[in-house]
Amino acid sequence: MAKHIGVLTSGGDSPGLNAAIRGIGKAALGDYDMQVIGFLDGFRGLMENRTTILDSSKLSGIITLGGTLLGTSRDKPHKMNIGGKLIDMTDVIVENFHYHHLDALVCLGGGGTQKNAFKLVEKGLNIVTLPKTIDNDIACTDTTLGFDTALGIAVNAIDRLHSTAHSHHRIIVVEIMGHRTGWLALGAGVSGGADVILIPEIPYNIDNVAESILERSRGGKNFSIVAVAEGAISQEGIKKIEETKNKLHDTEDKKEILKLKAKLKELDKKYTGKTTEIARTLEKITGLESRLTILGHLQRGGTPSPADRLLATRLGTACVEYIQNEQFGIMVAAKGDGAVAVPLEKVIGIRKTVPADHPWIKSARYVGTCLGE
Ligand code: F6P
Repeated sequence: MAKHIGVLTSGGDSPGLNAAIRGIGKAALGDYDMQVIGFLDGFRGLMENRTTILDSSKLSGIITLGGTLLGTSRDKPHKMNIGGKLIDMTDVIVENFHYHHLDALVCLGGGGTQKNAFKLVEKGLNIVTLPKTIDNDIACTDTTLGFDTALGIAVNAIDRLHSTAHSHHRIIVVEIMGHRTGWLALGAGVSGGADVILIPEIPYNIDNVAESILERSRGGKNFSIVAVAEGAISQEGIKKIEETKNKLHDTEDKKEILKLKAKLKELDKKYTGKTTEIARTLEKITGLESRLTILGHLQRGGTPSPADRLLATRLGTACVEYIQNEQFGIMVAAKGDGAVAVPLEKVIGIRKTVPADHPWIKSARYVGTCLGE
């Protein structure tokens, strides 16, 4: 009997989602005679039973489109905002899965989506996921949908900032997304030839950053591009956070635990997302005029790159093969030129950060980029 599959996109959108939906839909309809429905706005649409039939007309002409035709949200099945209250709607979602006689549900999303999908696997649903995020921070996959496009956008921005920084002899600080990891800032910084790259994995010392800029000035280069990951953190900040984490680890006192957890949140707020302050401080220490550019959601918008379209089509179509073979509870990951099935329990709860010995870090150091240490 022909299988019924559902598809949803969840979490922040990213270029390549429509190409993946197309890959899933075309392989499912054309090669396996499956029926495909899309749920609108992530897990919320699955809970509210808001659907659209993904027939061949809906799947045509979408490979170049950014965003997601299904819409997305950051709703979690087990913590959904219903009239201002967070309610566990997992049972309703399970009911709707069966109401639509689904043989499988494909969830396209980032780290949070992988976790939420796994919770549904634990409830007995047949789930397959695809890794999607411009942050590239999902474990067990070479890369994620949207990363390459966002990288291209950030590099293009750095290229443009170079000419204006150069003309005005300015420091230009550019904030790049990436949540708590530095993949995007490091990749864009290295390929854009940034003079300083600050990422969360390498806590920075602002005096060292200023000194590297002054050294450039002394060498006759009176402009600098500073690429800062949105999650970058100072050495002082990380020290305080580590101290608090150690205290938390050593105590069993419930009141103290609550206090320390609140302190951790406070410290996180105090020491991350400080790009404006970085630009101001660098101007003050170096005496060079500084400007700040925050790329923000520009990095998530527009047409997917060819690499993302290829990845989306590769993973989307492979995902249908796994469904046909009734392999569930997996993420379809990118490995080399192919796709592999990774059990979701191996993926969840792990943030793939940039390793200290990563070749991008090594090569950045070789070309004289200051990493803030
Ligand atoms: O996870 C993707 C991402 O774009 C991060 O890089 C960024 O921190 C976050 O989402 C922004 O989220 P929102 O779109 O909800 O503002």
